[in-house]
Amino acid sequence: MRTPVIAANWKMHGTQGQVKDWFHTFEQQNLPTTSEIVVCPPFPYLLLAAHASKPSNVKIGGQDLSNELKGAYTGQVSAEMLKDIGCSYVIIGHSERRALNGETNELIAQKVLRALEIGLTPLLCVGETLKEREEEKTEQIIAEQVTHVLGKLTNEQLKNIVIAYEPVWAIGTGLAATAQQAQTVHALIRGLVAKRDQKSGDALRILYGGSVKPENALELLAMPDIDGALVGGASLDPIAFAQIVQAAK
Ligand code: PGA
Repeated sequence: MRTPVIAANWKMHGTQGQVKDWFHTFEQQNLPTTSEIVVCPPFPYLLLAAHASKPSNVKIGGQDLSNELKGAYTGQVSAEMLKDIGCSYVIIGHSERRALNGETNELIAQKVLRALEIGLTPLLCVGETLKEREEEKTEQIIAEQVTHVLGKLTNEQLKNIVIAYEPVWAIGTGLAATAQQAQTVHALIRGLVAKRDQKSGDALRILYGGSVKPENALELLAMPDIDGALVGGASLDPIAFAQIVQAAK
């Protein structure tokens, strides 16, 4: 039985006041404790979110981290810093960082290793662009993105990662993948991990991300290989996010 993970990616949104209000409203929703709930605010609000989330069972995550341990890396944030202020998760390889910051599969693999070394759970994002899907390269792209990281991990480390399938064409567009489209790719990802280590494949949590909303969450989360959601836009509204948490099996 895989415990679902419902994660919020706030991207570059929010103020101190909004962070406080969000947690205040979210805590009043009386949610089941059957899922792991993770909130990933921008770096300046992580500490505030870590404090605000204390009364609840909400975990906090970073949206990125440095592949380096420490040193002269202006503007970067280390795994140890995230851990130090109370994060347990970190998003790695989000398509916006791949596209806008030129992150490669190699850099992403290094970041995953760094997170694991320090004891953070990497939430590794993979996904194809619309062009790649239209050219029928989805399988190839996903396999490249997943296996590049898998190749660097021990079987022990493999047990501690979470993967998010986020088709780039579905992110922020309002056009989510259909439950069947997502399920097909999730099964592919599980198969890739299972080929390496059957137990890790069976236990791996694979989240779907890309225009998840209260209206489509139930159908997506009902699929056998969809173990949670990574939610962008809809997660900014604590009530909508709570409804998505309710939809988790
Ligand atoms: P979205 O973003 O829910 O706004 O599509 C998802 C994500 O980028 O993680």
